[in-house]
Amino acid sequence: MNLNGIKITWLGHATFLIDTPAGKKVIIDPWIAGNPATPGDKKKIAKLDVMLCTHGHSDHIGDAADLARKHDPKVVGIYEFCSWINKKGAKHIAPMNKGGTQQVGDIKVTMVSANHSSTIEDGTQALNGGEPCGYVVHFENGLRIYHAGDTNVFGDMAIIHELYQPDLAMLPIGDLFTMGPLEAAYACRLLKPKAVIPMHYGTFPALTGTPDEFGRKLKEAGLNTELITMKPGETIS
Ligand code: NI
Ligand code: MN
Repeated sequence: MNLNGIKITWLGHATFLIDTPAGKKVIIDPWIAGNPATPGDKKKIAKLDVMLCTHGHSDHIGDAADLARKHDPKVVGIYEFCSWINKKGAKHIAPMNKGGTQQVGDIKVTMVSANHSSTIEDGTQALNGGEPCGYVVHFENGLRIYHAGDTNVFGDMAIIHELYQPDLAMLPIGDLFTMGPLEAAYACRLLKPKAVIPMHYGTFPALTGTPDEFGRKLKEAGLNTELITMKPGETIS
């Protein structure tokens, strides 16, 4: 698929670093220092303009507060999560809720549903992270990317397609805590993306879904969605 000037780097699990055509750096679900999938030479982030967080679990926001304090990006998240990270020292929060769209830097971001949970474990406390969500990111070059966060498949993914037509979907396939390959293939039926990047698999032995199985399920579903299997640390452009 032609990304038309956008660069996407998968840092493993659900963490993606995106370079926009104008040179801004966007990170989705920053979990780096403790992420066993992130290659050692990719653990340092030099600059960040925008941070998107889907929910409060540590495998999605493990580095969110540290990176926010260090690089001062605009932090996008659901209202309750933004209140939390603001108290942790993030100065520029951009809270929103599902159905909303806002401009942050040179991208537009729409917050959409995800079916999951979202407690923030902060030391010995379990805090309310708000509801989990996904994002449709609209780039200036016209490309639209949907990052599902952690979720099962749900029928309203058809609405995400009808309203926003994402070209590229990032979908969890690991099973157990999210959908697995069977559900992710069905999600592609509803979302109709041109291409899909599987994520949230293989990080731990318990996340058993594989890109190969996902590819088989796509085929069985009669879909010709382009399957882009990335290696942690890899960049596509
Ligand atoms: Ni989660
Ligand atoms: Mn997760």
